[in-house]
Amino acid sequence: MRIILSESTSEAVQTVAEAMLEKIESISASVLGLATGNTMIPVYEAWVQMALNRSVDHSYAFFFMLDEYLGINADHPSGFQEYVAKHLFNPLGIRKDQFTLPPVHDEGSYERTIKESGGIDLQLLGIGTNGHIGFNEPGSTGNSRTRRVILSEETIAANSKNFQGKMPTEAITMGIQTILESKSIILLATGKSKADAVKYLMNHHDDPACPATFLKSHPHFTLVIDPDAASKVNLKI
Ligand code: F6R
Repeated sequence: MRIILSESTSEAVQTVAEAMLEKIESISASVLGLATGNTMIPVYEAWVQMALNRSVDHSYAFFFMLDEYLGINADHPSGFQEYVAKHLFNPLGIRKDQFTLPPVHDEGSYERTIKESGGIDLQLLGIGTNGHIGFNEPGSTGNSRTRRVILSEETIAANSKNFQGKMPTEAITMGIQTILESKSIILLATGKSKADAVKYLMNHHDDPACPATFLKSHPHFTLVIDPDAASKVNLKI
C-alpha cells in the first residue's frame, strides 16, 4: 500500500483528480471505475477544471460506476447516475455510451462487461465511516462479486442526510473481488469522520469488519488522506 498524506484536503483532492486525469492523458482509451459521495464532489470539480484547462480528450475513455441504490428511478436527483452526470459527465461532454452502472438484474453481466472492456485501469474509491468500500458493508468477504446488498444502519444514517426523499435500504455494488481485479486503485479519505476507519485500515489486513482492509493485498493500491482523516494514526508528512 502506498500512502500519500497530504498537507490539506485540497491537496489530497488535487492529487486524486490528477491521478485520474493523468491516466486518461497517458492512455486515451482508459477504463476508469468511479465512486460517488461527498468526498468525490471536489475531486470531480478539480478533474473537470484541469481537463478543460489542458483540453484533455475524454472521448475514448470508458467508465464503470461502483454502485447504485436500488428502488429509485434512473433520474432520481440523489441517485448516482444523476450525481455523476452533474459533477463529471455533463461538464466534460461524456456520452451515454461511455459509461455503465451495475445492472439491477443479472449482476453477473457486469463482471463480464468489465472483463470484455479489458478490465478497470484505475478504480477510484471513498471509504465509509464503517470501513465500507462501494456498498460492501462490514461482513462482506474478499471474494465477493457484483451483487445486491442491504445497506447498514450506519450507511443509511450517513447518506440519508443528503438524500432527497425516502432513503433506499438496498443497493447494488461491485464486489470486493471485482474491485481487487482493477489494475490500480486509489482511495481518498478526508475529514475527521473517516479517522477511525483509516486507523482500522492501517492496523488490520483482510478483515471483513472493515472491507477496505482487503485492498492492502493489492499491488497497486494508493491511499490518499488529509490531515483530519490521518489524525488517529502516527504518520509524518
Ligand atoms: C460511493 C460509495 C461509497 C462512498 C462512501 C463515502 O459510490 O461507494 O463507498 O465512497 O460511503 O461516502 P462520502 O464520501 O459521502 O463520505
